[in-house]
Amino acid sequence: MDTLEAIKTRRSIRQYKDTPVTDEQLKAVLEAVQWAPSWANTQCWELVLVRDPAVKEKLAGTLAPGNPSTDAIKKAPIVIVACAKKGQAGYYKGQAITSKGDWLMYDMGLAMQNLCLAAQSLGLGTVHIGAFVPEDAEKVVGVPEGVTVVAMTPLGVPAAESRAPKRRAIEEFVHHDKY
Ligand SMILES: Cc1cc2nc3c(=O)[nH]c(=O)nc-3n(C[C@H](O)[C@H](O)[C@H](O)COP(=O)(O)O)c2cc1C
Repeated sequence: MDTLEAIKTRRSIRQYKDTPVTDEQLKAVLEAVQWAPSWANTQCWELVLVRDPAVKEKLAGTLAPGNPSTDAIKKAPIVIVACAKKGQAGYYKGQAITSKGDWLMYDMGLAMQNLCLAAQSLGLGTVHIGAFVPEDAEKVVGVPEGVTVVAMTPLGVPAAESRAPKRRAIEEFVHHDKY
């Protein structure tokens, strides 16, 4: 599958089969994170791979009430918890060098989208999950001081296709010469 096809066909997958993810598949999606761009190549990501059903259950409990991905967290063979070290992206010698402060959300978005696209190219499903209580998820996976949980995604073989939500027309969001 080429890159454009992976970008266009990737969907948020919220239903998974029991089929395990192979070691080769897992390695490929982790390499997609490894090769993501990052601020000054700081690579602030840390990933927790959750396979223990009891931990998955606890993670599902951190999701916002009614989050449509709650069952996916419980049922997918692997849940990837995307953590980030604070104070690296956007920093030089311990100082934030832009008015935006920590760029960890940006770098984590790039890394996790790389992961999702790699998964898609292998026939695996993912869904970026952001609506959860990070402080609770941090306790569940036991992150150290200075590290935060940014997002999580199930990883596995899709059990159902998702419909593509409508996108805005290109002319609606592209501006020429001035906003
Ligand atoms: C930063 C971010 C956070 C998201 N959080 C959630 C979430 O908590 N639960 C969920 O089911 N989907 C979540 N989504 C998935 C979006 O709803 C989905 O990407 C969007 O509706 C477009 O659908 P598509 O991914 O199938 O193209 C999130 C997506 C992003 C990028």
